Amino acid sequence: MNKQRVAILISGRGSNMVALAEQASSGILAGCAEVVVVASNKPDAAGLDKARAMGLETRASSAVGKRRSVFDGELLDLLDPFAPDWIVLAGYMRILTPQVIRRYPGRIVNIHPADTREHQGLHGYGWAWDQRLEATRVTVHVVDEGLDTGPILGQRDVDLRGVQSLEDVEQRGLAVEHGFYAEVLRDLFTGAVAASGSA
Ligand code: GRF
Repeated sequence: MNKQRVAILISGRGSNMVALAEQASSGILAGCAEVVVVASNKPDAAGLDKARAMGLETRASSAVGKRRSVFDGELLDLLDPFAPDWIVLAGYMRILTPQVIRRYPGRIVNIHPADTREHQGLHGYGWAWDQRLEATRVTVHVVDEGLDTGPILGQRDVDLRGVQSLEDVEQRGLAVEHGFYAEVLRDLFTGAVAASGSA
């Protein structure tokens, strides 16, 4: 099959981006995906350095002081030359405008650190920690025009028994995210899961 061209958007440390890029170069995404660019709304995002160190193309444009529509227009201009088939959000901390979502309908995917049916928005692990949940669930979903409302592609439980701190919760969660995100994307790119969501 043709490899799917993937643009990854980040805003911070980019640990999911690194995990996906590794899987694309020599792991379970190797036969089906190619990371064509890593882009950020934060020019100083630590993940950009990690992407460069892996030999990936990077792009950044600061969103500071720009209207959403202006910034998202720039984002589209920046992504266009790479002709991505998919936009994969990995800790991208901005809500995308309909302008972007309609350009890539059903082709933008996000990982959310909670069950999107129970908790939307920021601080998914803080939400689990505050309630001292014994387990939480990470969600990979298609991005639509709502906040974490798009069709669910897959979910995986995170065992939180015995955690002592929010940092422990986050560490357990990220360990699951890093493998799980690639698994769901492989299924999506190979057609085993439909972008309309079938999980
Ligand atoms: C992850 O917990 C992800 O679920 C959420 O933002 C965090 C990003 O972490 N959307 P990283 O930048 O991939 O390390």
